[in-house]
Amino acid sequence: MTTTLNLRFSGGRQYDVVIGHGVINNISQLARHAGLGHECVIISDSNVAKLYSKQVKSRLQSARFDVLLLTFPSGERNKSRAVKQHLEDQMLRQRISRQAFVAAFGGGVTGDLAGFIAATYLRGIPYIQLPTSLLAMVDSSVGGKVGVDTPYGKNLVGAFWQPRLVVADIDFLKTLPEHELLNGFAEIIKHATIADEQFFRFLEKGMEKLRHMEPKTVESVLATNIEIKKNIVQEDERERSSRRSLLNFGHTIGHAVEQLSQYKMSHGQSVAFGMRVESLIAVQMGLLEKEDEQRLSALLDSAGFPASLKNSFSPDSVAKMMLSDKKNVDGHIRMALPAGIGRMAKKNGSHTISVSPSQIEAALKAFK
Ligand SMILES: NC(=O)c1ccc[n+]([C@@H]2O[C@H](COP(=O)([O-])OP(=O)(O)OC[C@H]3O[C@@H](n4cnc5c(N)ncnc54)[C@H](O)[C@@H]3O)[C@@H](O)[C@H]2O)c1
Ligand SMILES: [Zn+2]
Repeated sequence: MTTTLNLRFSGGRQYDVVIGHGVINNISQLARHAGLGHECVIISDSNVAKLYSKQVKSRLQSARFDVLLLTFPSGERNKSRAVKQHLEDQMLRQRISRQAFVAAFGGGVTGDLAGFIAATYLRGIPYIQLPTSLLAMVDSSVGGKVGVDTPYGKNLVGAFWQPRLVVADIDFLKTLPEHELLNGFAEIIKHATIADEQFFRFLEKGMEKLRHMEPKTVESVLATNIEIKKNIVQEDERERSSRRSLLNFGHTIGHAVEQLSQYKMSHGQSVAFGMRVESLIAVQMGLLEKEDEQRLSALLDSAGFPASLKNSFSPDSVAKMMLSDKKNVDGHIRMALPAGIGRMAKKNGSHTISVSPSQIEAALKAFK
């Protein structure tokens, strides 16, 4: 079965997200249908290129696309300005024209990097997302946020540049290392918690099947997930209201611990821990029932996330790390907090709630 979702933005811009087993085999028809030209630059990291680039390249070539394949070494440290420049120079040398489109073929690193290249190459050319990691399928390939990391922090240079098509072929997940799955699980549980109690219940029942990548479960989870992200992104394409900040649930604390661990903790583990702490903060502020916090915690347990931190940081170092973020101006930290399963709190019309460092420290102490 194939699921197709359509995202719509102002000015008549729209694109399809196609999800299913083997959907990559329809790449040529899908690209034509999306109105893309016949010149294609596939950008892929070394792991994904080794496994799948031949297959995708020949699919496109046999449908008369001119294909240039560019690769870069895998890993977050290569989501950099230097690698971007290196790839752009190769495109310029090959005289890739404005009629060309980029195919970002890989995980979230590839999607962010290749999407940002498309956003700035000759002042912007179209691109498509061909996500191959679970995280990229459920999160990063949809929404149009692209960019690179800098020595001053992650994702600090980038753009909003919507893809023209997203093709999520579940079959790619067969070769994804198991620990990479957890990064996707964290975002899936986040999406369920912020927007969809029924989906949350589905995960409570089906987590075992999801962990074993049972095909039907994966397909349904992907479709529901992307639907949730789509609805939020469509309403707030460029993060102008607090609506899109709902997607940051678990990430305020999560980013701080990820940074404190010097990125030894994975993004998924950091966000899972972040969701535990942030939901406890919501309980302590009287926004969330204890019972709901426990339900979330149990779901995170069943997905395989540890209940406490291995490299235990002191609670005040986590709060300090968050305060050093330029966004926090008044000594308070703003975060999206749940008001129930599938419901987020709102105060004075905003989805971000002001939390004091002492409230954060109090919640963190519960996880020592
Ligand atoms: N733009 C957004 O909205 C958004 C949202 C969330 C995360 N992100 C970004 O996404 C990035 C993380 O993405 P990620 O977790 O996919 O990391 P990643 O792209 O580094 O992929 C993880 C690892 O899995 C490998 N891999 C990917 N697909 C594979 C497959 N099918 N088979 C075998 N190996 C495969 C990759 O080579 C890599 O080693 C971060 O840079 C983060 O900032 C962006
Ligand atoms: Zn995330």
